Amino acid sequence: MSAPMERNVDRVLFTAEQIAQRTRELGATIGREYAAGDVGRDVERRPPIAVCVLRGALMFMADLVKSIPIHIEYDFICVASYGNGTSPGAVRLVKDLDRSIHGRDVLIIEDIVDTGHTLHYMTRTLLAREPASIRACTLLDKPTRREVDVNVDYVGFTLDSDAFVVGYGMDYRGLYRNLPYIGVLKSEALHE
Ligand code: PRP
Repeated sequence: MSAPMERNVDRVLFTAEQIAQRTRELGATIGREYAAGDVGRDVERRPPIAVCVLRGALMFMADLVKSIPIHIEYDFICVASYGNGTSPGAVRLVKDLDRSIHGRDVLIIEDIVDTGHTLHYMTRTLLAREPASIRACTLLDKPTRREVDVNVDYVGFTLDSDAFVVGYGMDYRGLYRNLPYIGVLKSEALHE
């Protein structure tokens, strides 16, 4: 790999084609289940709202909603972990949704569920607003890293290893999000 960004990638975990294929499958499943009334109350009249958890889920969200063949709205929320060491797992709201989700069917879109703290916070926060339903979809799931119990309804790929993954929205210190695939960083790049 010759480009400066890709120099630090040890190996590709999921190619752009594999991501696109899996995303299409997830979109079809989500569309079918909501249209069949398995989830939503009245999705014809009140379409589900996809909630993109910024910033990592941006690319997945953009591709996923294009694969969902029913009416759907979307909005954005941004959360961050405190990262000060005093309250491990604590998450704070950086940017809230612009619209009410009261009585609506909400689909949380994540790029990765790791310890589960972010999704746990998201679910608790959005449930307090009394939506009709909440489901969660993540491109990657790392169940072996879980610290809190969370419900994930749609999973793209499950990771058993603890490798640090970047690309397709996922970052290391703000970089590598624009890689079109998901890769594992070289260990030496983790300290640069
Ligand atoms: C990542 C990812 C999830 C969260 C998952 O976000 O986008 O939101 O971590 O981790 P958890 O299950 O351990 O809570 P990050 O905090 O890196 O911010 P980002 O989305 O801006 O990259």
